[in-house]
Amino acid sequence: MKRFNNGVFHFVVFISILLFLGPGLSMHPFSYDHSLKSECLMELPQTINTGEGFQELKIKENGENGKVVERVNLQKGGIYSISAWVKLRNEKERAVRITLRGKNVRYVDGGQVIAKKGCWSLLKGGFIVNVSAPVDILFKSDGSAAAEINVQNVRLQRFNKTHWRLQQDQVIEKIRKSKVRFQVSFQNKSTVEGSLISIKQIRPSFLLGCAMNYRILESDSYREWFVSRFRLTSFTNEMKWYTTEEVRGQENYTLADAMMQLAEENKVLVKGHTVLWDDKKWQPIWVKSITDPDDLKNVTLNRMNSVMKRYKGRLIGWDVINENLHYSYYEDIFFFFFWLKMLKRFSYDLLFGL
Ligand SMILES: *[C@@H]1O[C@H](CO)[C@@H](O)[C@H](O)[C@H]1NC(C)=O
Ligand SMILES: *[C@@H]1O[C@H](CO)[C@@H](O)[C@H](O)[C@H]1NC(C)=O
Ligand SMILES: *[C@@H]1O[C@H](CO)[C@@H](O)[C@H](O)[C@H]1NC(C)=O
Ligand SMILES: *[C@@H]1O[C@H](CO)[C@@H](O)[C@H](O)[C@H]1NC(C)=O
Ligand SMILES: *[C@@H]1O[C@H](CO)[C@@H](O)[C@H](O)[C@H]1NC(C)=O
Repeated sequence: MKRFNNGVFHFVVFISILLFLGPGLSMHPFSYDHSLKSECLMELPQTINTGEGFQELKIKENGENGKVVERVNLQKGGIYSISAWVKLRNEKERAVRITLRGKNVRYVDGGQVIAKKGCWSLLKGGFIVNVSAPVDILFKSDGSAAAEINVQNVRLQRFNKTHWRLQQDQVIEKIRKSKVRFQVSFQNKSTVEGSLISIKQIRPSFLLGCAMNYRILESDSYREWFVSRFRLTSFTNEMKWYTTEEVRGQENYTLADAMMQLAEENKVLVKGHTVLWDDKKWQPIWVKSITDPDDLKNVTLNRMNSVMKRYKGRLIGWDVINENLHYSYYEDIFFFFFWLKMLKRFSYDLLFGL
């Protein structure tokens, strides 16, 4: 009996797990290298048979091309993947999307990419249809001027749910699973025969994340749904400056604090989002109206100190400046101030001969 009380079994467990990934795994439906390439390629991958499926489209001003790329019969209940390589001929860049149109079928968008001139972008998408009907596949682009688009290698593949699941399982088998060996012995190292071991997964080890918003504080079902599958998060808007300091000098971290606590209690990692945002539109209203450069510098520094100190040591990182590739609010302003300061200094020097 005593031995039992001492914790009879030593479970020596060699584990490197696992496991499971829900829907959303990339599929292998096409003949090309399907890795999620987002960069624009000067040359198409060699696996692609150029010449086959090559199309030149001219998109009219109303955003609709005059030419049907493919006419296909869709099957009710089908899950479709679609892809194509696209390139612009006369413009630097613009969004190009795939659209389906048919009798009794509304326009259904099948995916979009920002296409560029001089290189090939991979447009990938998919859709589910609830009718059996012939449809046309079109390429569209909204813009003020007509666009000329090269399209290569349009690929459409149909799946049914069983098929989809089968492929998913195959990929899970290949990528997400590995062998686990259990060795169960008594404390004296002799083998335990006929023991029954049960294993229950309590958390996924795969770092799959999702944004969350403050409604998670109010909804049990949202919370349960979220924490049972995600291990990583960012708050949609609750840490943003316009939320935490809507009125100048009145900081309010109620929502962010509560969400932080919820995440920590459930062992969900948090990436801070965001200290600053480079889009002028999304500054707190009172910030947009500041005209004194020193003042702006002060409030910006105050923002950094406030939010970063508050969550210090509790985040896995920060989005320091959100959307700073296509916007430049802070760079523009501080660059401007820098030169303004230089100019002031210069005039001062001139006046006082320093
Ligand atoms: C198919 O889906 C569309 C959009 O959800 C809906 O308006 C339409 O009634 C559905 N058609 C059928 C046959 O279920
Ligand atoms: C679904 O797809 C699988 C694999 O392609 C096929 O064997 C099966 O017959 C399909 N089922 C239906 C209902 O179409
Ligand atoms: C090891 O411990 C188990 C359980 O206490 C016992 O049944 C077994 O006889 C022991 N073996 C040896 C070699 O002592
Ligand atoms: C702070 O924010 C919370 C959540 O939005 C709100 O309920 C509360 O009234 C705010 N406090 C102040 C002092 O404005
Ligand atoms: C900015 O902060 C500094 C240091 O706290 C202070 O001396 C200065 O008056 C502030 N500037 C403005 C415009 O508030």
